[in-house]
Amino acid sequence: MLTLGIETSCDDTAAAVLRNSDILLSSVVSSQDQIHTRFGGVVPELASRQHLESIVPIVTEALDRADVTLQDIDLIAVTQGPGLIGSLLVGFSYAKALSYVTRIPFIGVDHMAGHLLAVFLEEDKPDFPYIALIVSGGTSSIYLARSHISFSLLGRTRDDAAGEAFDKVAKLLGLPYPGGPRVSAEAIAGNRSAIKFPRAWLGRSLSFPGASDTRPSLAVEEESLDFSFSGLKTAVLNHCNQAKQMDIPLQLADICASFQEAVVDVLVEKTLLAARSHNVQTVVLGGGVSANLRLREAMSSRCQQEGKAFFVPRPSFCTDNGAMIALAGFYYSRDSTPASYEQDVYSRSQL
Ligand code: KG4
Repeated sequence: MLTLGIETSCDDTAAAVLRNSDILLSSVVSSQDQIHTRFGGVVPELASRQHLESIVPIVTEALDRADVTLQDIDLIAVTQGPGLIGSLLVGFSYAKALSYVTRIPFIGVDHMAGHLLAVFLEEDKPDFPYIALIVSGGTSSIYLARSHISFSLLGRTRDDAAGEAFDKVAKLLGLPYPGGPRVSAEAIAGNRSAIKFPRAWLGRSLSFPGASDTRPSLAVEEESLDFSFSGLKTAVLNHCNQAKQMDIPLQLADICASFQEAVVDVLVEKTLLAARSHNVQTVVLGGGVSANLRLREAMSSRCQQEGKAFFVPRPSFCTDNGAMIALAGFYYSRDSTPASYEQDVYSRSQL
């Protein structure tokens, strides 16, 4: 079975061709970073206009590289949500139209299911159940995955997503968009303990053995698997303002390393807490922020300490791509009837 996967949820136009669940014939991604970088973030209107220009060439390239034609395709899988509505509409309407004229069935896929399953594009595949931390520009969520189509949301961000925090901190430090890779590159030369930025644990009664900050002695509420990064972002801003007022030069590398460590600490410890409290032995990482080397390293070493198996896809499967959408479409199509042309896109995940 050949699945054509199409992804346009944010600022990447992507398409891929997947044979069954395991043979990736092509995966093409067109990034819009250059368009959005001068604005310091994604401009939704520009993103959807660029998808309109890119969608046909990108799908054509994915088919060409796979050495197949549309007639060979059995299923069109397309991101239905969550994401920017204008961006989603381009890919979803295109997929519907393609399906209508070719009579190839199409299926709408939740973008989060794509990230949750991206690890199955690798040779080394996890067993179910697993705890997945999905961190990107639009989300920071922890899921319990029971099968290829059964996921329970255990925790999510109450404000900024981790990638959004990286991008906003980069902007206030004068680094270009997308900020995550720039902040992590600067952090390499910095000292992670130089500045004591806050960790928002959001109340908990369990201890976090690997975390490096000082924890409150009393739990103020039940331990939470939710995240909050807006206070951390403000703390970085305050630190920079204070340094300017006191005429102290900003130590960019130390700020980046200390900020990154504060994000990584919370992401890793809450993921491990979820695994412990659900008695799950496997941890999976996904989403654009999982390209962050410090996060990979810290998660891997804490999983090792706690005897958990750890899986993370290669960086090109962590960021938005069509291959993970094709894969999720493949699994969901085995369990549901093809989508109807009445269906529409949605901005919030339905998982
Ligand atoms: O999943 P993704 O490709 O797209 C969406 O969120 O739609 O994730 C992009 C996000 C951006 O916020 C980017 O700054 C962040 O992932 N990111 C990183 C790194 N590489 C990408 N954040 C931290 N460290 C990185 N190395």
